[in-house]
Amino acid sequence: MKVTVIGTGYVGLVTGVCLAHSGHDVTCVDVDRAKIATLSAGTSTIYEPGLEELLAEGIASGRLRFATPDVGWKDLISDITFVAVGTPMASNGAADLTAVRTVVSALAEAADRPFTLVMKSTVPPGTGGTLASRFLASSEANIGYVSNPEFLREGHAIDDWYHTDRIVLGAENTAALDIMRELYASIDAPVVATDVASAETIKYASNAFLSTKISFINEIANLCDYVGADIDAVANGVGLDTRIGSQFLKAGIGYGGSCFPKDTRALDFIATMNGYQFTLLKSVIEVNNRQRLQPVVRLARAFPDLHERTIAILGLSFKPNTDDVRESPALDIIPLLAEEGARILVYDPRAAEADIPGALRVDSVWTALAGASAAIVVTEWREFIDLDWVHAKEVMTDPAIVFDGRNCLDANAVRASGMSYMAVGRDGAHREA
Ligand code: UDX
Repeated sequence: MKVTVIGTGYVGLVTGVCLAHSGHDVTCVDVDRAKIATLSAGTSTIYEPGLEELLAEGIASGRLRFATPDVGWKDLISDITFVAVGTPMASNGAADLTAVRTVVSALAEAADRPFTLVMKSTVPPGTGGTLASRFLASSEANIGYVSNPEFLREGHAIDDWYHTDRIVLGAENTAALDIMRELYASIDAPVVATDVASAETIKYASNAFLSTKISFINEIANLCDYVGADIDAVANGVGLDTRIGSQFLKAGIGYGGSCFPKDTRALDFIATMNGYQFTLLKSVIEVNNRQRLQPVVRLARAFPDLHERTIAILGLSFKPNTDDVRESPALDIIPLLAEEGARILVYDPRAAEADIPGALRVDSVWTALAGASAAIVVTEWREFIDLDWVHAKEVMTDPAIVFDGRNCLDANAVRASGMSYMAVGRDGAHREA
């Protein structure tokens, strides 16, 4: 089938590449000329395992091409046209739908024949109805609107595309649903066919629940530090209950990324705007905002002379196997340590360039650790999990401390090196001595 994907960010690019790999004829569109040129040359603009191989395959097969809107929207509209542009968080927590409205308006104006508009961008419940009445209803063409939210995890996106737990389709007419069922026929997953608002709500409810699970286990971990319990044993015992499940029960310094922080705030905003106080969600957000500050609080307590110390930040991306630094805990931790006057060195094996005032980005973990009084593991990169902590102790300054922000290290191995080990719910931090 002929497909257009508008927006070549993490979602749009994965959507285009995977649909081309499934045999569809795909045109990916972006206003960013440099990005389109890079992609057309077969170079991925994001780090995602397996993406560049599928990009090269798509281009070589002639099933995948890239364009800017300069050629005119009318010529870019396909029978199935995905909108996958960004919906960043506005300052008040709302989802900024400027890009979505701009594209949908342009498509509605340019369309001179029927097509199916598929909303892949994450948009708050109620958005589809508003877009249809405001833009599509007045179009000359008969445009079918489908909400088709994505559930891709960065670092696992290709696998998540083909092995999704469900395909969610929200539409007010069955013709659009049928077209989408045909498009996704090669993917073995249950299809949840519903109305647009319910499909939009499934996306937000899913991310909000996963965020809730994380903030919940983080609060349990914080409690473990007071009662002397071990969060790994607790999470294991809890997660074996099949009604709960073991995934997303990994305690640490909280969630980051371009989705959970944005989507929880947007859902809270939408609830409030509709007159509902989503109390539980507000607590999930508050817990997460606080959780990432733990390393700063505990190191400031350990080092009254923090302003004379060097601190190594190990990990800048919001999680491993991605170069994405959006909402990474490091971006909050670094300024707070800088305010205390500490010298801060940052190392990450893959993270994209980021503005980190008060810190120096270095290209080796050993450069970051040399002379450091403490190391904070912000991202659980394999390189840090497997690090030789005996050697790390030798190059760091006594009393060398490791704050394991992702509870990913072998605590006994770190302690055996002679270093002090701090973590989240693993070291009885607040247990009365
Ligand atoms: C998430 C959702 O998983 C995905 O379905 C949705 O489409 C987009 O948002 P992503 O943000 O890429 O995907 O990453 P994910 O692997 O879900 O992790 C999100 C954050 O939660 C990361 O900061 C991670 O460190 C944190 N996390 C995850 C935990 O702190 N504990 C866990 O147990 C799992």
